[in-house]
Amino acid sequence: MRWGAYPPTKLLQTPIWLNLVRETIFFYNVDVTTKIAQSSVVTNRQWIVKARVFYFSSTGNTRLGAELVARGICQGGGCCDLVDITDSGAEKVALTFNDVDLVGFACPTFVWKPPIKVTDFIHNLPELEGRLGFLFCTCGWEPEGVVAKLASEVVKKKIILIDSYIMWAEESMTMIRWRRFILNRGRPNAEDRDGAIRFGENLVHKYKQYKDDPSLPPHRSKRKFSCLTPISILGCLARQNLIKYYFRKKVNLELCNQCGLCAQQCPVGAIKMADYPKFCDNCIMCFRCINLCPQDAIESWFTKGNPRYKGPKI
Ligand SMILES: Cc1cc2nc3c(=O)[nH]c(=O)nc-3n(C[C@H](O)[C@H](O)[C@H](O)COP(=O)(O)O)c2cc1C
Ligand code: SF4
Ligand code: SF4
Repeated sequence: MRWGAYPPTKLLQTPIWLNLVRETIFFYNVDVTTKIAQSSVVTNRQWIVKARVFYFSSTGNTRLGAELVARGICQGGGCCDLVDITDSGAEKVALTFNDVDLVGFACPTFVWKPPIKVTDFIHNLPELEGRLGFLFCTCGWEPEGVVAKLASEVVKKKIILIDSYIMWAEESMTMIRWRRFILNRGRPNAEDRDGAIRFGENLVHKYKQYKDDPSLPPHRSKRKFSCLTPISILGCLARQNLIKYYFRKKVNLELCNQCGLCAQQCPVGAIKMADYPKFCDNCIMCFRCINLCPQDAIESWFTKGNPRYKGPKI
């Protein structure tokens, strides 16, 4: 076994309290790269609304959800682009919004929050004053305030939110995927998928309503829990900078075949291939490498023997 970054000495170098303050006050700075993953899913030439959805998806649930929402928008009489912001290797794309009426953001729930790469992506966008927007999140067991937290970033860009949606999907956090029990196994099921399509269709109606009556109040997403509940305290302790100390990764050298897929797929380029993968400091704990390694050679705390999540069945 080879241990990844964050040996115990790191804990001494960076005191936990300093990380907590830094995480609370500042954004963790991740390089934002984007690529157009799929060109327009256009069914109508005379569309009512042109939408663009930016999505982050570690293991495919959110990507599937975003595709279903796009299908719904097209069925409702609009058209929709999907832009994948997951990968680090993708070339930067000049972000123009001139031709876009409705901007969507889609992401999974990571420890009751949106992934840090998504909040950083939104943080780095220009202000889009008066533009209409919507949110779409997936979760495996408890979304808590993920939508509200995503909304708080989006409204800083002066986007007016018209709706949000949460789709339940199979749990991808390997440490709580047990052989005998996997939360939401097999989801999104037919009903979940249908819900995402209907949400997309409904977005077109909502868009028309907001255009006809600009005085309509923006959509508000409430946090399910107020501050200082046990779950919110745990969420605070589990902030990105801290959980990587708890969940160091290690590679089983007997299983690893040095294929390099983990380094290729890491959303923030936090894996360097020497002979074997080496984990760097900028890991955002998305568990993508652990789940997608074809040899199941990457382990973290409490992952040993747990089945990996290879993505939804299309
Ligand atoms: C590191 C990590 C943390 C997670 N935390 C939560 C959580 O707090 N609440 C929840 O409901 N699901 C949680 N999940 C499950 C994912 O949100 C869910 O499986 C999601 O659909 C994955 O989407 P993706 O395949 O697009 O990455 C977590 C998954 C990972 C990998
Ligand atoms: S994906 Fe798995 S097998 Fe391939 S290099 Fe990474 S750890 Fe090794
Ligand atoms: S090293 Fe693994 S867990 Fe960390 S960001 Fe990269 S893919 Fe995600």
